[in-house]
Amino acid sequence: MLHRTAKVPGGATIVVLGANGGVGSTLVQLARRAGITVIGTASARHHDTVRELGAIPVDYRDPAAYRRIRELAPHGVDAVFDHVGGAGLTDSWRLLRRGGVLVSYGTAATKDESGNSQLPVLKLFARLALWNFLPNGKSAHFYNFWAGKRRPDAFRTRLREDLTQVLALLADGALTAQVAAQFPLDEAAAALALAESHTVAGKVVIVP
Ligand SMILES: NC(=O)c1ccc[n+]([C@@H]2O[C@H](COP(=O)([O-])OP(=O)(O)OC[C@H]3O[C@@H](n4cnc5c(N)ncnc54)[C@H](OP(=O)(O)O)[C@@H]3O)[C@@H](O)[C@H]2O)c1
Repeated sequence: MLHRTAKVPGGATIVVLGANGGVGSTLVQLARRAGITVIGTASARHHDTVRELGAIPVDYRDPAAYRRIRELAPHGVDAVFDHVGGAGLTDSWRLLRRGGVLVSYGTAATKDESGNSQLPVLKLFARLALWNFLPNGKSAHFYNFWAGKRRPDAFRTRLREDLTQVLALLADGALTAQVAAQFPLDEAAAALALAESHTVAGKVVIVP
């Protein structure tokens, strides 16, 4: 998402929503290694973690969150990584400077909506496609780790290259996986309760 889709150069400024999450914290660490300034949203209780990862924290529950980001990056940002979707996706799009890139990779905001579960996703795709026609130099993409149905071999080759790099950084200790807690399999219910509590930063791991 960072280097292949958004192609963010060193010296740029990006916004990572959910900067303390599994995907978000990895994005922050990869970006910081590449000399990229990161503004990361998270609940206030996770701001120390986000700061330790090297990002500037902003509370996504604060109604003025997007205004605060604009104060931090008055000329707009180079890329936004958004897994939330919903109405806030427009705010993410508006944060971009001319030439900036929106990478959407989820629709967490609509996951509890009743009805056809595909509909929010289709609406999201339609909005992203439409925005790409606007004459403002910005672009919008959807990233899907499980995609590649049309050209599976090329997709898997790219994914293998990218994951090899990320996992090599992890093995070297250059990236750290954020593990909040480990539970044995027979305590899976407690593990899920903790994971859903939003009180811990990082992943809750169940060990078989
Ligand atoms: N497209 C793909 O290929 C792909 C691949 C993997 C994951 N995903 C999607 O990416 C999302 C994140 O996955 P994950 O494994 O990183 O989950 P995760 O570890 O649970 O992290 C979720 C993060 O989102 C934050 N968050 C929750 N509501 C938010 C909001 N309204 N605005 C901003 N941030 C918010 C949480 O912050 P707090 O903890 O501070 O509340 C947390 O940092 C999921 O929706 C998943 O489905 C997509």
